[in-house]
Amino acid sequence: MTASRKYIQALVALKRIADDISQSLYRPDLRCRPQYYDYVVTTIFAYPELPEFLKNAYLWEHDTVHPACFQILDSLWTSKNPYRIAVLCGGSGALSGALRRHFSSRSLTIDNLDLSKSMLDRDGNSDAKILVDLSLPINLGRTYDCVLCVGGLRYFSTSLHVFADNIRQLIGKAGTMFIAEVDSGLTQELCQLLTHDGIVCHLTKTTLRVFRNTLFYFLLDQYKKNNRFRELVTSLEEPGMDLCRILIDLAGYKMTTFHFCTCTTRMCDEGAGTISKGLEEKHSIRAV
Ligand SMILES: C[S@@+](CC[C@H](N)C(=O)[O-])C[C@H]1O[C@@H](n2cnc3c(N)ncnc32)[C@H](O)[C@@H]1O
Repeated sequence: MTASRKYIQALVALKRIADDISQSLYRPDLRCRPQYYDYVVTTIFAYPELPEFLKNAYLWEHDTVHPACFQILDSLWTSKNPYRIAVLCGGSGALSGALRRHFSSRSLTIDNLDLSKSMLDRDGNSDAKILVDLSLPINLGRTYDCVLCVGGLRYFSTSLHVFADNIRQLIGKAGTMFIAEVDSGLTQELCQLLTHDGIVCHLTKTTLRVFRNTLFYFLLDQYKKNNRFRELVTSLEEPGMDLCRILIDLAGYKMTTFHFCTCTTRMCDEGAGTISKGLEEKHSIRAV
């Protein structure tokens, strides 16, 4: 369904309001605290339609983060059956769900390791939900074929050594790791910390189109609470343009540079050379 001219004109006008909201929402100090996600869950996730909204195919068609991550994951994949994945800071399970959809033909198990019980309670996509603070030393007694963390590294700026030790424990002697983060300094530091004892790390960066999900949550909240805003949104409704589609269009997407760190242990290093294929820039750090 293509958007009508009237819809696009009205959207452009409303988008200015959304962009202003986006500016006032930009609070990096707050967003880098794990408690922020408890806030998101308890206030915004209270809306019963949200889980369905977040599965919207239209939303994910334009976001290029997961496809880029899955391309790399594909290059790390081994013949292990089932392939055991640990998602670190997996929150409410959106990444676990996307993994299942993308790799539906493969046999895999997914464990979500997260600090927030309220987030884990929402996760219906992972095989195991493990409540754990990864800024403290862990002892889970299990290893994984792949450890994945998308947008979670920022929480470990003051506990990077511990986080790196935890990753080392989780990948054991034969696992791999993939981290995607927007903070280049932190990603490089982690890469250096991990590059020891047979672990080989690669750094790459690439610019991706990211759905502005925080703004989307906020707009949904406003739609529920603010009569004037609800009237404006309702005036845009026409065939094919339901509430979810309108809020997705209003929140929109932003271009963001992501830094990727992939680690392989010597036992599964054959694929490491192909990991960065197709990405913009590549730097390698190899263990000596
Ligand atoms: C950005 S959200 C998760 C997004 C998810 N990675 C995805 O791609 O869908 C960040 C998550 O990190 C978790 N988190 C923050 N600090 C943590 C810590 N010290 N240990 C474990 N999880 C943590 C929060 O509870 C929150 O659920």
